[in-house]
Amino acid sequence: MIDIEDQLTLDERSSVDFILALRKRWSDTVYPALAEEYAATGPLAGTVDGATDRMRELSLYPWYSHLERVQQKMLWKTVGEAVVNRGDSLREQLDEVPGAPKGRLVLDPGLELPGWYTDYDIHIQPGSFYSDDLSGYVYELGARIVMLRDNDGYKFHRLFTETALPETPGATRIVDIGCGFGKSTRPLVGRYPGAEVIGIDLAAPGLRLAHAEAEAEGAAITYLQADGRATGLEDGSCDVVTGTMVLHEMPTEAVREIVAEAARLLKPGGTMSFLEFQTTGDPFRDATIYEHAERNNEPFFRHLFATDLTGVCAEAGLSDAHWTPFDERREGKRPDGWGDRREWHFPWAVLTAAKPEK
Ligand SMILES: C[S@@+](CC[C@H](N)C(=O)[O-])C[C@H]1O[C@@H](n2cnc3c(N)ncnc32)[C@H](O)[C@@H]1O
Repeated sequence: MIDIEDQLTLDERSSVDFILALRKRWSDTVYPALAEEYAATGPLAGTVDGATDRMRELSLYPWYSHLERVQQKMLWKTVGEAVVNRGDSLREQLDEVPGAPKGRLVLDPGLELPGWYTDYDIHIQPGSFYSDDLSGYVYELGARIVMLRDNDGYKFHRLFTETALPETPGATRIVDIGCGFGKSTRPLVGRYPGAEVIGIDLAAPGLRLAHAEAEAEGAAITYLQADGRATGLEDGSCDVVTGTMVLHEMPTEAVREIVAEAARLLKPGGTMSFLEFQTTGDPFRDATIYEHAERNNEPFFRHLFATDLTGVCAEAGLSDAHWTPFDERREGKRPDGWGDRREWHFPWAVLTAAKPEK
């Protein structure tokens, strides 16, 4: 597989490195300075709205908020150009079908994409995930930088797979909903040897890239273009239904439908586990998380945070639903919370629930 980063010109490399450094300094220097100014200049607000109002009056806020938005736009411009500059060879790579594929790619060109999915360029990525064959490559390269290079080699997704998904000897089918370009799906193959691993997504470009990468690695994965709310798979056929970073991208009613679909797909005793986000309980930090989402065109974070997801699981017939914080740097699932972190970070958390045996 072509790794675009191996081919970057000096100019492109400099841009990528600059944006990465800018994001790191925004997170580990500008955000803590904003937090210090907030703490030093008045009473700490007791609510997110109160903290938002106070934050917007701080002298550092214009810088902080401007850098947050601008770095994201610079990111897509840089990675978008890097991908388009190699568009012909990248498209060819997607078209190359291996002689004896180990997995499958099942696309559905007639699949209707929901309005809430097409109304926004999510993450401000021009054209979002679905509009062009190259969108998967753009998202893949952009995500390396958004994760501050901490997810190179899919370290972060492997941590999720290893610390948050159950040991299930003899598992026969595992489903990853909202699999994107397969970053969350590939670690499942090693975790559940012998099981059929299925990645599902609305967007064909990511699935095409996921399939090409899985074949290049020799991983037997089925990628299906479908809506995670109605996968078309059989009732009670899955040991684990999982997903990473997908539920916050849809309105509450759609989240309910995904959870109901997961409950339908699970075998008795099976596990549902989604890596998502939760509020931290610190009004100032949470105010910055709401703002981060809105500045990145992610309008449904608010819906996720306002929804009682453990209650949604119970409505769907799942038991023992609970959230556990997740530390993406080294420990993975971390029941004690995120710890004291100075830098801005996503409040990762895992939602787990079980399908009762009877
Ligand atoms: C932020 S990406 C995460 C991708 C991948 N799980 C990862 O961790 O890299 C969210 C993905 O969910 C997909 N998605 C959103 N809503 C969906 C739905 N209702 N059914 C299937 N996929 C969906 C999007 O197309 C996108 O690829």
